[in-house]
Amino acid sequence: MSKVTVIGAGNVGATCANVLAMRKVASEVVLIDIKEGLSEGKMLDIYQTSTLCGFDTAVKGVTNDYAATAGSDVVVITSGVPRKPGMTREELIGVNAGIVKTVMGEAMKHSPGAVFVIVSNPMDTMTYLALKSSGLPAARVFGMGGQLDSSRFRCYLAKALGASMNDIDGMVIGGHGDTTMIPLIDKAAWNGVPVAQFAPKETLQKVVADTMVGGATLTGLLGTSAWYAPGAAAASVVEAIIGDQKKLIPSCVALNGEYGQKDICIGVPAVIGRGGVERIVEIELTADEKAKFEASADAVRKTNAVLKEIGAL
Ligand code: APR
Repeated sequence: MSKVTVIGAGNVGATCANVLAMRKVASEVVLIDIKEGLSEGKMLDIYQTSTLCGFDTAVKGVTNDYAATAGSDVVVITSGVPRKPGMTREELIGVNAGIVKTVMGEAMKHSPGAVFVIVSNPMDTMTYLALKSSGLPAARVFGMGGQLDSSRFRCYLAKALGASMNDIDGMVIGGHGDTTMIPLIDKAAWNGVPVAQFAPKETLQKVVADTMVGGATLTGLLGTSAWYAPGAAAASVVEAIIGDQKKLIPSCVALNGEYGQKDICIGVPAVIGRGGVERIVEIELTADEKAKFEASADAVRKTNAVLKEIGAL
């Protein structure tokens, strides 16, 4: 028996709940939102796909009723305001900080043993806020961003190489922002063979550039931020936790000296299992990657500083 709560029944949260149900990740999935009827409607709709998709996951939607979330093994936080075209993730900070703190506090009361996965943007800063304000152990509060960015990276790489997406290995570390993420192109591989053997430098540089604006490209097309890949990426992280999969997933985790950083949550490879962040893996970075990581951490710190300025921490 396993139970997952998804907070925020918007595009990302509902997609995450849908993927969780369809992939039978948990026996029970609860979706909760502040907007009257939204979660109930979306979960009823998802429930009515169960005979079509062949799952019997118990799905429930509630409006602000945290008692229904009690005893969750994993809580995914997607509540907030999505990024609009031209709006930076950083501009979202004031609104989303209040929301994340409130819902985190409510969810913790009912599921004190849960692992919390933060999706709301600006994700690195919201994760830092959730961790600091909750007082929970760092292993049980982390952010999902690297999984999404890495999936986009692998897709762009596969296209450029004419390869199967599932044959491509690649990670994106650093902050979860257009300018802060670091697609590790020198470490990417096609079934273990470095991608540099298959494509010229310019092609690979374009893959990196496309990955970095992957989210913004979709925001431009859709008029709001994307949801299929973000929702599925969050669900895959939940699956790694519930299934105790020990997957190496670039995740936004609290660093305490690793990668030369302290007092920050930022994307690095981490082993994700039933305990949440079970191990932070320090991979060897090139001088260029190191410099980029430091710049990324500086940028994330600047956004985190806003939390103090607005009195959220
Ligand atoms: N409690 C519960 N739900 C809330 C609260 C709250 N206090 N405040 C807002 N919400 C809900 C909204 O009612 C809305 O249904 O959060 C949901 C957000 O959904 P969308 O606006 O559709 O946003 P979405 O595209 O799902 O993105 C959610 O994930 O990727 C990030 O940048 C994105 O921060 C954003 C988050």
